[in-house]
Amino acid sequence: MAKKLWGTRFSKKTNALADKFTSSIAFDQRLAKYDILGSIAHAKMLGKQKIIPQKDSRQIVKGLNALLKDVTGGKFKFDSSAEDIHSNIQELLAKKIGEAAHKLHTARSRNDQVALDIKMYLKSEVDDLIEYLAQLQKSILKLAKSNTQVVIPGYTHLQVAQPVLISHYLLSYIEGLERDKIRILDAKKRIDVMPLGACAFSGTGLPIDREFVRKELGFKTLTANSIDSVSDRDFILEVLASLTILSVHLSRIAEDLILWSTKEFNFIDIDFSFCTGSSIMPHKKNPDILELIRGSVGKIHGDLSSVMILMKGLPSSYNRDLQLDKPPLFDAVDTMKNILEIFVELFANIIIEKEAISGKLQDESLFSVDIVEYLIKKGLSYRKAHDIVGRMVRGCLDKKKTISGLSLAELKKYSPLIDSGIYKILNAWASVSLKKSFGSTNPKLVAWQLASWQKRLK
Ligand code: ARG
Repeated sequence: MAKKLWGTRFSKKTNALADKFTSSIAFDQRLAKYDILGSIAHAKMLGKQKIIPQKDSRQIVKGLNALLKDVTGGKFKFDSSAEDIHSNIQELLAKKIGEAAHKLHTARSRNDQVALDIKMYLKSEVDDLIEYLAQLQKSILKLAKSNTQVVIPGYTHLQVAQPVLISHYLLSYIEGLERDKIRILDAKKRIDVMPLGACAFSGTGLPIDREFVRKELGFKTLTANSIDSVSDRDFILEVLASLTILSVHLSRIAEDLILWSTKEFNFIDIDFSFCTGSSIMPHKKNPDILELIRGSVGKIHGDLSSVMILMKGLPSSYNRDLQLDKPPLFDAVDTMKNILEIFVELFANIIIEKEAISGKLQDESLFSVDIVEYLIKKGLSYRKAHDIVGRMVRGCLDKKKTISGLSLAELKKYSPLIDSGIYKILNAWASVSLKKSFGSTNPKLVAWQLASWQKRLK
């Protein structure tokens, strides 16, 4: 068993089971880099403030830099018997530089140290997540930009509704992902507050310079209350909540693509390199990647619940329960990064099945709202127009005819206001072009949106 940071007060050794049960080294070792960087800033400050001799400070910094090199070079010796990463690093530092190492933990506790480490870890991960999200948006935009002329039947309640540009549809994903980006970036503001100096929970009587450490570590501000500094993990909850919302968005996109790739829809084809087969049915080409993306909401939401319930009812200041915040946090971040990474590639491997789609656009019920609006423009009330088109659709279904197959005389029986102009609006391109409102699927407006996203995502 590794040496404890607190052994001497104890009259006997801790039970091996207790050691194993309380240890977090198995998962917090990934904080090593941040722990060392935090310690370097702290040691510099202790020297500058003459809380420890300058030469000890320099020696500690040198030793820590060597350990940092080991971490980044994959040579760091993680000790599975250590209580946590903080103890592991302390012990290795002592082995490296001897007595001076024991001055590092002056005016510090693992309570403020671990809060600092997680915040440093998260600041870096948030930046990665934002970058991945931007990549995904770009990948979606690329698909949209290369299919600006494609109209698909749109659905509400999964029933055929109205035609929309597929690029308009794809842009809807980009909008949602942008809000996810903003949410995560907003959460970063609360992460970017430096807690070191809170010590166990009440601060210290030694003349530390928190502002110096803040600047060294690149944090925006300082936490203003030492108890709050070590008590709260709301910044983790915010990130997990944002990731959960993001995963809900991604699951919807995945579900759309799964539906679209079925024989029944046949709007898209996903390249073989991003599909899987069946062990029993030779004909199958399954969208397992998308299904796993859809399924991951459960995992990420589970991580959020885990930390939420962990926090509920905890007394203020540090409690060991807080150690359990890390596995779910790491899991959610890792899961999301994996999803985003593969989603970027998957979007680059989608082919739009233009011919199959145009076959589905022959269904003229898609244009019923356009006919209603045509009649409104001729002076009818919305209600009257709706009734007329309702009868028209039913009549065609009964007689197994299409609206465009009716003669003008037949059409005029539904309303004398109908003229030959009606035939011009009974196609998908006319339908989208007739839209006028800002944010609608009108091709000119969508082209403008595509251009503006192109600029924003540069
Ligand atoms: N491993 C702990 C955590 O992850 C930090 C150690 C705090 N331990 C303590 N006895 N104060 O939260």
